[in-house]
Amino acid sequence: MATSLSADSPQQLSSLSTQQTTLLLLFSVLAAVHLGQWLLRQWQRKPWSSPPGPFPWPLIGNAAAVGQASHLYFARLARRYGDVFQIRLGSCPVVVLNGESAIHQALVQQGSIFADRPPFASFRVVSGGRSLAFGHYSEHWKTQRRSAYSTMRAFSTRHPRSRGLLEGHALAEARELVAVLVRRCAGGAFLDPTQPVIVAVANVMSAVCFGCRYNHDDAEFLELLSHNEEFGRTVGAGSLVDVLPWLQLFPNPVRTTFRKFEQLNRNFSNFVLDKFLRHHESLVPGAAPRDMTDAFILSAEKKASGAPGDDSSGLDLEDVPATITDIFGASQDTLSTALLWLLILFTRYPDVQARVQAELDQVVGRDRLPCMSDQPNLPYVMAFLYESMRFSSFLPVTIPHATTANTFVLGYYIPKNTVVFVNQWSVNHDPAKWPNPEGFDPTRFLDKDGFINKALASSVMIFSVGKRRCIGWHTKMSSHFLEAERGSLFSDSTDPQEILLL
Ligand code: HEM
Repeated sequence: MATSLSADSPQQLSSLSTQQTTLLLLFSVLAAVHLGQWLLRQWQRKPWSSPPGPFPWPLIGNAAAVGQASHLYFARLARRYGDVFQIRLGSCPVVVLNGESAIHQALVQQGSIFADRPPFASFRVVSGGRSLAFGHYSEHWKTQRRSAYSTMRAFSTRHPRSRGLLEGHALAEARELVAVLVRRCAGGAFLDPTQPVIVAVANVMSAVCFGCRYNHDDAEFLELLSHNEEFGRTVGAGSLVDVLPWLQLFPNPVRTTFRKFEQLNRNFSNFVLDKFLRHHESLVPGAAPRDMTDAFILSAEKKASGAPGDDSSGLDLEDVPATITDIFGASQDTLSTALLWLLILFTRYPDVQARVQAELDQVVGRDRLPCMSDQPNLPYVMAFLYESMRFSSFLPVTIPHATTANTFVLGYYIPKNTVVFVNQWSVNHDPAKWPNPEGFDPTRFLDKDGFINKALASSVMIFSVGKRRCIGWHTKMSSHFLEAERGSLFSDSTDPQEILLL
């Protein structure tokens, strides 16, 4: 036994040790893999990890997947990766921000870090490279924005002197627009209202900026205004022109689009430059400004004169045409899109249209047109406007931003000079905030007594927030909404100058 035992024992031991070794090896590999995965998860959870995102293909990255409705693609990715994620467009990494809290943390709490624009080729084309909307965040840009804002404010409905004037232009154009629409669809003819609506809106802004208006059949004016869509497509999120620069090297549709874009910007700038030169020539020293162009020229000349008490926030004279180009371009494009959306929504929801009409009939009557002072008595009309902005989110993603320093959003590391897309649509369609967000229901903005819920209204996001917020926003909101906004999540500070400017 002892011999047999002693004879078998080394064999058993050696076979056991082989099994043990194999098992040990297997366990070690499994443990190593598991540990590796765990460490990776831990590392990803660390505050300095980069935002997650989909796999980027060589050369094009995720560009092919973005498509025309970039906000919907971003919303799908946000459901998968969270509110802060990263894609790659060509060779350009882009961080996309979704939802109220990520956007607030970036654009409001870290305003100056998220206030830059990317160095895109298309941005340098706008307004001859001196654009306020597409320019880099700098001391020069701050002066340009401050000056544009204060001059615009002087011509807005918030200023008692100019309110009557602006209202007069708007009402005259509204009357003319209705007459054109009625005339053009006489006898039940098919009518696309796009062009008349754009002309009407551009005429209001032309009256404010240049003191003149154009006929609805003016071929030159119509040509100038017929490129809004191309413009938006080229500078908007997901445009290929700026992220695939090698496409400029040989003939292809992207290169053709870019060349057309350059031409349309030259035409637009020349149109405004001509107005500027005529104003400059005919401006009588000491006379009151006839329009916004005069006001800009006067403030620039005052600054240049260097006399005591001068307006140091004024523009340099060479920045005046570009700033007016931005204001005229940005306003006619967005406001006409807004008006066209209202027409679409009236057609799609006739019961809403009937209720808007009923309130107008009751408050204003049919003997006159509505005016700004009717606004507090038209809660359903205001609710309809807010719901239209929320539902359509017709500027779903802002102009691309860029970071000026290394930073973090929701714990994710975002380096300096990163391109940032801001998905406003995601805020306006967040089911946690808006019950049935895909339904169109103006009454969601009314409280039980039929008044506007100001806090809810101020959380609709369509003019963006932070240092790049639309400067036209201020001109369209009545003071009580401004008050509501001051206390809201999106306000930068309690100082309205700071909320809107720098
Ligand atoms: C319903 C109408 C409008 C909407 C929805 C709208 C929306 C926007 C948005 C989303 C931006 C980009 C903000 C960002 O990049 O974060 C913007 C910028 C801008 N908007 Fe508007 N806008 C409207 C009307 C106007 C009007 C009437 C004017 C001028 C009178 C105007 C002038 C500008 C300018 C100058 C900028 C550039 C601001 C900057 O980069 O600092 N907008 N707007």
